[in-house]
Amino acid sequence: MTKIAKLTLDDGRTIDLPVIEGSEHEKAIDITKLRAQTGYVTLDSGYMNTGACTSKITFLDGENGILRYRGYDIAELCEKSSFLEVSYLLIYGELPTADEFKAFRAKIRNHSLIHEDMKNFFNNYPGQTHPMAILSSMVCSLSAYYPGLLESDQSPEDRDATITRILSKVRVLAAFAYKRSIGQAFVYPKNSLNYVANFLNMMFEVPAEDYEIDPVAQRAMELLLILHADHEQNCSTSTVRLVGSSKANLFASISSGICALWGPLHGGANQEVLEMLEDIHKDGGDYKKFLDMAKDKNNPFKLMGFGHRVYKNFDPRAKIIKKACDDLLAKWGINDPLLEIAKGLEEAALKDPYFVERKLYPNVDFYSGIIYRAMGIPTNMFTVMFAIGRLPGWIAQWKEMVEDPAMKIGRPRQIYTGETSRTYSPIERRG
Ligand code: SDX
Repeated sequence: MTKIAKLTLDDGRTIDLPVIEGSEHEKAIDITKLRAQTGYVTLDSGYMNTGACTSKITFLDGENGILRYRGYDIAELCEKSSFLEVSYLLIYGELPTADEFKAFRAKIRNHSLIHEDMKNFFNNYPGQTHPMAILSSMVCSLSAYYPGLLESDQSPEDRDATITRILSKVRVLAAFAYKRSIGQAFVYPKNSLNYVANFLNMMFEVPAEDYEIDPVAQRAMELLLILHADHEQNCSTSTVRLVGSSKANLFASISSGICALWGPLHGGANQEVLEMLEDIHKDGGDYKKFLDMAKDKNNPFKLMGFGHRVYKNFDPRAKIIKKACDDLLAKWGINDPLLEIAKGLEEAALKDPYFVERKLYPNVDFYSGIIYRAMGIPTNMFTVMFAIGRLPGWIAQWKEMVEDPAMKIGRPRQIYTGETSRTYSPIERRG
């Protein structure tokens, strides 16, 4: 029996609106017919209370710090799975059988190269170009080499071909952008290496020496990429869905997601956190001063890596990354003063009424940069790492949407508050 919510309007009318309940008992009022029935729309700045879709991909419970991909808890996936297997799970809905994974991995391996002409694109960017600008334009530029994969109503085979090409080549585009920024020769992908090892090799091998892939670094990278792989309807994923809802191809939709992720309030926060920790360190390490700045309403400074729209308790990813930080830096014998500052900042904030009242906790970006830095990845590449991790989630969400026969182009409404009708006056009479 359909549950209903009753809405009584300011003119006395009352309408029934269906209530829908998800598999985790989340409830929503379905307002699909609200405007047709009443002429009213809803207004919800930042979509804080608005569900854009139903989805079977990722479940977040912000109050209890739960994050599951297709029903699997991320802590278990971090411990037992690999980033490529989690990518398959997110995109196709189930963990692959051995044969399915073998076929998927073969497609990824056999489609890692980019067209040789694309190398020239990298050389025409100014040296200080942010790698997120390069990554977003390069992903969109891939479409130039696959004219047959731009059809809006793709066959499943073509959709899979598009998916595996972007998933495989994003590593090459990211590594080439990094190599270009440090003036080193590009390192090509090696089919003998698995997904993450191949990326690390493209990033760090130099022609003059043999690069030994550190299994500890590889495992840490797997963990970080798994933790970033999806996060339901966040800003960049919602961007990918909105762009894809116009039937734009996957290259264009992902490119737009990369741009949305770049923002410092979103994926760009991991770079901002490191820069904030470095500022605190340079300033003598007095993090309480920065905590006070973050609380000062007259100061635009925010404690980067803290707070979250959904998590009003701990971000489960931050907990896992913080432990990995401790383990890795101990294993590598690195004593990073920024980690001590981060821990002191967290401890002080979690006791401070300003943060406690607003339920502000460390999020996924607070500790991740310390691991990337320990691996030798430069700060301006941190958000690129986030994008590589989030790519399977963006793809899965786009695929779920385009395969929905009821898909409609996203087109929010508004409430107009500007000038009412007025007539044009010639310039000489405007005073
Ligand atoms: C990601 O959505 C996702 O799932 C995103 C993500 C993913 O995996 O896709 O999890 C990845 O983007 C993580 C968030 C990374 N961003 C940062 O770390 C930037 C710093 N954090 C803030 O900018 C903020 O917390 C947001 C953007 C994350 C959330 O903002 P909201 O939900 O719009 O909350 P808000 O800005 O309205 O804050 C509520 C209150 C305000 O104070 P009051 O007006 O109530 O007095 O909390 C304060 C804010 O000023 N506040 C902070 C703060 N975050 C919120 N004050 C100081 N420092 C902060 N970091």
